[in-house]
Amino acid sequence: MSVRRLAPDSVQPGAFAFSKTNDNWADAQIAKYPRGREASAVIPLLWKAQEQAGGWLPQKAIEAVGRKLGMPYMRVFEIATFYTMFNLQPAGEHFIQVCGTVPCHIKGARDIIKVCEDVIGPQSTVTADGKFSWLEVECLGACCNAPMVQINFDYYEDLTPENFARLLDDLRAGRKVNTGPQVDRSCSEPLGGGETLKDKALYDGSAVGRGDWQQRIAADREAARTAAEAAEVAKAAAASGAAAPAPATRPDAPVAAPRPPAGEGGQAGRAAPAATPAKVTKPARAAPAHPPTLRRKGGEGATATGPLIASTVADAPTLLAKPRAGKGDDLKLIWGIGPKLEKLLNRRGVWHFDQIAAWTDKELAWIDTKMEGFKGRAVRDQWVEQSKKLATGWRPDSAVGEKPGKT
Ligand code: FES
Repeated sequence: MSVRRLAPDSVQPGAFAFSKTNDNWADAQIAKYPRGREASAVIPLLWKAQEQAGGWLPQKAIEAVGRKLGMPYMRVFEIATFYTMFNLQPAGEHFIQVCGTVPCHIKGARDIIKVCEDVIGPQSTVTADGKFSWLEVECLGACCNAPMVQINFDYYEDLTPENFARLLDDLRAGRKVNTGPQVDRSCSEPLGGGETLKDKALYDGSAVGRGDWQQRIAADREAARTAAEAAEVAKAAAASGAAAPAPATRPDAPVAAPRPPAGEGGQAGRAAPAATPAKVTKPARAAPAHPPTLRRKGGEGATATGPLIASTVADAPTLLAKPRAGKGDDLKLIWGIGPKLEKLLNRRGVWHFDQIAAWTDKELAWIDTKMEGFKGRAVRDQWVEQSKKLATGWRPDSAVGEKPGKT
C-alpha cells in the first residue's frame, strides 16, 4: 500500500494555471453536468492538470482545480490522494505501477519490486536520467497474468525478475517493447494454449441465424441420440434379415394383428398371421375387412372407412387417410405418446392400435424417419409391444399409459 502524501515543498512549483486550450477543454467537461453539480468534473480536470504538469499533481494544480470547480481545496485533496492514478510526486518518463495485491504477491510481486528498488531506487523517486519512477499499487485487474505492472498506459504481465529487468533495459534504451504477457501466451488464455472455444464456427459467422442456442444444443443432442438409436435399429434389422431373408416384394412377414375390441373403433387392418410364414411367397397383407374402401395413394376416392394413402415406399406400413368408422384410438394410452405425437401420427395416417401392433421392424424404421423431432421414440418406448396389448382391449390405469417393463 502506497503512502499518499504531497511532494515536498522543494519540488513543488510556485504556481499552476491551465493553458488556454486545457481551460477550454475543462469548461467543456464542466458543461456536461447540471448547474450546481460542477464538482462532478473533478476527476477529468485533475487528470488534465496532471498531464499538463508533466505526469504528477503539484499542490498548486490541485488548488487550481478546486477554484475552477468552486470546491473547497480539501475536497479536491481527498480525491487526489485517494486514487493512485494521480501522482502526488514527480514521475519519470516511464512511470511504473507495481501491483502488490495478493495474487500478484503470491506469484512473485516482491521480486518485481526488488528489481525496481535495484534499478530505479526507492519508491516515488525519479532516476537521475529522468527515465523511471515507480509506485506500489493495489490490484490493477490483471490477476490472471500475475505478477504485472502498469507502465504509463500499458500493462506488462507474466513478469519474472529476468524479463522485467530486460524490459526496463529496453525502455531505457528506447527499444521497442511488447505490451501484455511477457511469456508465450495470448492475453490471459491458459498457459500452454487454450482448451475451449476452439470451434471455428464460433468466429466465422456461420453460427449466425441458427436460432436460439438452447434449441440448437437440444436439437444437436436429439440428432445424436436419434442417430445412435437408428444405428441400433438398422443393426437389429440387419440381424433379423440375415436370419430370415425378406421376400422380394414387401418385406413384411405376417404380424399378428389383434382384432380391436368392440367399440375401439375399427376392424382389424390385417388378417391374422399365417401359421407358417416361411411358406408365404406374396406380401402377407391379407384382404382388408373393407377391400373396396382401401386404396393406394393416387387411387380413386376416399371413404370414411379409411383409404390407404401411402405405401409408395416399400417399407411403409399401412397408413389411413382417416380413422376407421370416423374415430381413431386414443394413441395417448401408449406410454410416451402425448398429444403432439398423437397428432403427428394421425397426420402420417396412423390412427389405431392395431396399425402400430402390426408394424414390422422395417415399417418401424420407416415410420421413425417421419417422426420429426421424435425420432427413436417408437423403438425406445416399445410402441409396437404396447399397441399389441392395447389392441386386445386391455387398458392401463393411467391416461398416459403404462411404462413398458412395468410388471
Ligand atoms: S492482484 Fe495484481 S493485478 Fe490483481
